[in-house]
Formats: sequence, structure tokens, C-alpha cells
Amino acid sequence: MKALAVFPAQRAVRLVAHPEPAITTPTGVKLRILEIGICGTDREIVGFQYGTPPPGSEYLVLGHESLGEVIEVGTAVTRVKPGDLVVTMVRRPCPHAECLACPVDRQDFCSTGDFTERGIKGAHGFCTQFVVDDEKYMNVVPRQLREVAVLTEPLTIAEKAITQVWQVQQRLPWIAPGKPGPKGRFHRAVVLGAGPVGLLGAMALSNAGFETTVYSRTSGPHDKARLVESFGARYVAVETTTLEQLAEKVGNIDLVYEATGAAQLSFETMEVLGTNGVFIFTGVPGRRGPIELDADLIMRNLVLGNQVVFGTVNANRDAFEAAIRDLGTFMGRWPEAVRGLITGRYPIQKATDVLLGEPGGIKNVIAIS
Ligand code: BGC
Ligand code: ZN
Repeated sequence: MKALAVFPAQRAVRLVAHPEPAITTPTGVKLRILEIGICGTDREIVGFQYGTPPPGSEYLVLGHESLGEVIEVGTAVTRVKPGDLVVTMVRRPCPHAECLACPVDRQDFCSTGDFTERGIKGAHGFCTQFVVDDEKYMNVVPRQLREVAVLTEPLTIAEKAITQVWQVQQRLPWIAPGKPGPKGRFHRAVVLGAGPVGLLGAMALSNAGFETTVYSRTSGPHDKARLVESFGARYVAVETTTLEQLAEKVGNIDLVYEATGAAQLSFETMEVLGTNGVFIFTGVPGRRGPIELDADLIMRNLVLGNQVVFGTVNANRDAFEAAIRDLGTFMGRWPEAVRGLITGRYPIQKATDVLLGEPGGIKNVIAIS
């Protein structure tokens, strides 16, 4: 079968003939892959900055944002049945019994670093025609979400982040879990970046009741600004508005959801994070050398403002289930905005061009079958 593969040693990316997998365990499930989303991680992998083939293989099959259809199930499978649409999780547990996270199915917090990630680290991905995996990593998606379900995996990033926000903010005496406070009491969010992770994060925050501002490079009116406004958030451009002006517009910035991978802008934004605020990093920057920062100001604000900064990566089953639920809610509230996030669909023969070129748009998708 066809698969999109990266050969790190040869510095090559191409379609390969990859052996079709078969079910070998009672809980195995075989999928026909329908769609694969392309993200910044994939671009880093094809830029040979990141990504590791499985042991013994000279290539890595790419693709971790997937949508598949169940075509065959092992004898003991109960979670899915043929015909179901499923999104498969990315990370697999490390082999160590002493890991604090993997043995309890929380490999998203793996404490040894020896986890694998399908399509990223030590395990083949999903940008191919058929995939076999264990049912425990699969999450059923309602048929009505077929056209947007490939956005589930990138949305899990926001879901896991928001769950942690409420855990952190339990420290505030007036916060009810899962619900922004009344005006002035933790309800104002700023999202840095208007790529897929930023926009899905902004939708999730908006949907959760936050007054949400997306702060991104270029000034509108343009499609992205209109898209942001269509789901009830505000679009503010870095080009025309300084961080001080942003903070003035927003008021106490309670939450920053970083989705740019740009350290300079992110740390500068930390200077305007509000009292009792939470700053979340989701981007993984390339190493570009030291930057200049007003670190004293940031440290003062962190201490005197009771601020919390955390990074978040990968997602567990709960985050996938929340993402599927929320995607349904978003489609009920803002169907055009959700559809508008997918700006290109390409056949697998075009996959290398999409990955290596500058296809533009928001989320580009490889449509496989
Ligand atoms: C994926 C995560 C993964 C991370 C780091 C992201 O693009 O969405 O599942 O953990 O890359 O490899
Ligand atoms: Zn991704």
C-alpha cells in the first residue's frame, strides 16, 4: 500500500510501498484511513529537525492527525465496530514499569521520555491506506462530523490545556471548576497565533465562555479575522497594536494560550499577563539562539501577580473524548467557521508538495480514500 515516508539519513521525503498491516491480537482493529491533517510538527519532521523512524526502519511513515474507518476487528474488540469513524491517539506508553504515567494510561505525562508517537517518534504514522492499532487508542466520532473530524487531534491540545487551567485555578477561592468567573474574575483569554492550534484553542475558549482575543501578525480585514469574529472572538493584529495596547483593550489578561512557537513574542506577552493569570505554552520552537527579555519584569509579575506558566503536550483519552464532543458543539454553533479551518484537501500523490511547499491557508489535509 502507499505511504508517505521520510528518510532522515537520506534527507528524502517520498511515497513508498509499505506492507499492509494485519490484525495480530484479539483487541486489534484495522482501519481504512480517510484523512490526515498536516501540522507544524510534520513540517519539522520533513525538515529533518525532529522525528525518528521505528527501530530497524530507514524511514518513518508520517501522519499523526488522522481520521479512519473501521474495516475489521479482532475477536475481543468491544469499543468499535466495522463502519465506525475513529480518531486514533498518537502516543504509546514507554516500556518501563517505574514510569509514573504510562502504566496508568497517562503516557501524555510519560516520566521516562521513552514513549513512542505514531508518525513522530519511533512508530509509523497514519499517512497511508490501512492502519492496525489496539482498540484502546481509538475514539469513535459521530458520522455527522465526517468532514471536520480530522481536526480532533489538534483540538485535543486545547482540551488538555483547558482541563489543566481549571486544575490550576482551583487555587482561587472564587473559581468554580470548568466555568469562567463573572466579569473581572478570570474570564479574559488571549490566544497568540491564528494557525490551526490557535484558532481551535480560541474556539474552545470562546465556547467555554471566555471573552477571547486572538493576537496574530497581519491586520484585517481578511478571512482569518472574519473567521475569528464569526465565532464570537476578537481579532487584534500585532502589526497595528502593541502589547500594552492589547492589555488595555482586553483588561486583566487572565489566560494566555500560546500557539505560535515564537519565543520572543510569547515571553513579551508574559509581561502583560494579568494578576492571578495563567500562561500556557503549546508551541515547540526551533533553536534560534538567545533572545533579549525584560526578565526582571516578568519575574516580578510572576511573583507579585500569583501567575502560573505551564507547557502542555499530547493528549489522553479524556481530551480526545472532549475534543469530539466539542467539535460537535462547535458545528452546532459555528458550522462555517469550523469548515473554514480546513482550507485545502489534496490527494496523497500531492502530499510531498504540500509538506515541502508553502500551500498557505489554515489546515491542509491529505484525503486518502
Ligand atoms: C502532536 C502531539 C505530540 C507532539 C510532540 C504534536 O504535533 O499533536 O501529539 O505529542 O507533536 O511530538
Ligand atoms: Zn500535529
